Amino acid sequence: MKDLIPKYLDEIKSFTADSQEQLENFRVKFLSKKGIIPGLFAVLKDIAPEDRKEMGVLLNELKNSALEKVNELKSGLEEQAGKKIDVIDLTLPANFSTLGSKHPLSIVRNDIINIFSRIGFTVAEGPEIEDDWYNFSALNFPEEHPARDMQDTFFIEKKPDTVLRTHTSSVQIRVMEKQKPPIRAIFPGRVFRNEAISARAHCIFHQVEGLYIDENVSFADLKQTLYYFATEFFGAGTQIRLRPSFFPFTEPSAEMDISCFICHGKGCKICKKTGWVEILGCGMVDPNVLENCNIDSEKYTGFAFGMGIERIAMLKYQIDDIRLFFENDVRFLKQFESTHS
Ligand code: DAH
Repeated sequence: MKDLIPKYLDEIKSFTADSQEQLENFRVKFLSKKGIIPGLFAVLKDIAPEDRKEMGVLLNELKNSALEKVNELKSGLEEQAGKKIDVIDLTLPANFSTLGSKHPLSIVRNDIINIFSRIGFTVAEGPEIEDDWYNFSALNFPEEHPARDMQDTFFIEKKPDTVLRTHTSSVQIRVMEKQKPPIRAIFPGRVFRNEAISARAHCIFHQVEGLYIDENVSFADLKQTLYYFATEFFGAGTQIRLRPSFFPFTEPSAEMDISCFICHGKGCKICKKTGWVEILGCGMVDPNVLENCNIDSEKYTGFAFGMGIERIAMLKYQIDDIRLFFENDVRFLKQFESTHS
């Protein structure tokens, strides 16, 4: 044992550590309960009494130098770690945080809302689950109209008919039932149709409905309002054209085309070489619809229009597959920025 002590003392004195882990191994080896030094103390009692005192002194020395070593190396390592934090490595690449972006459908919806709110239209919303009255009957759909068919509409219940609304025109009725003219509002929202999903069609999409009811509202007001919208949204110089059409809730009814903003009439893929692209349906609110909402159709007239947000966004950004809007691929989503708000 006497020979072992100087050997251990040398080992302790010459020990250095590059890491906390090496230092901990050293501490365990010499100082832990089952370590070398406590082990030597344990056998002290077996030593001849005349040598015991001297051995005790030597062992204490060994223990103290091990403790000192641990403390010294510990503070050295801590100091080094502190210094490391202070050193800034300017060659390291920066941490980029990725910002989210607005969904293109939100951008287009907000742009449409902004454009109409500048000419006094307010915004209202209605429920996505509707009954037959709001989605069809009050809007003057005849009993046997094909839109009421299971092929076109998602029914939640039959008799009493409860449906997922197939258009935002239903909100017209809700607003006219509650509010008396003048009414000037738009209704953005989600609509549902029993359609097979393809590049061109989806069973869930979005519309914005518009409604203006007052005394002496004329077709000229409708045309001017939509012309304003077209030039604000698609740019100055955009032309519009109204083609006669049919909707049960408007009379007369029309569909509106805008001059193709891609080829400016020369003919391209977007306008199918016609120079025009269809963007919405519109018309003068049918007197039956006004009467269904207890609005005097002798006194009041009005116009309504409805457009698909996906369709407008696909035209504006030249997107050729409607499914991209619902896949939430960030590489697609981060490409869009509003030009109006
Ligand atoms: N509701 C129609 C549709 O979903 C769009 C529409 C056409 C709305 C004419 C109107 C309108 O308000 O007057 O296809």
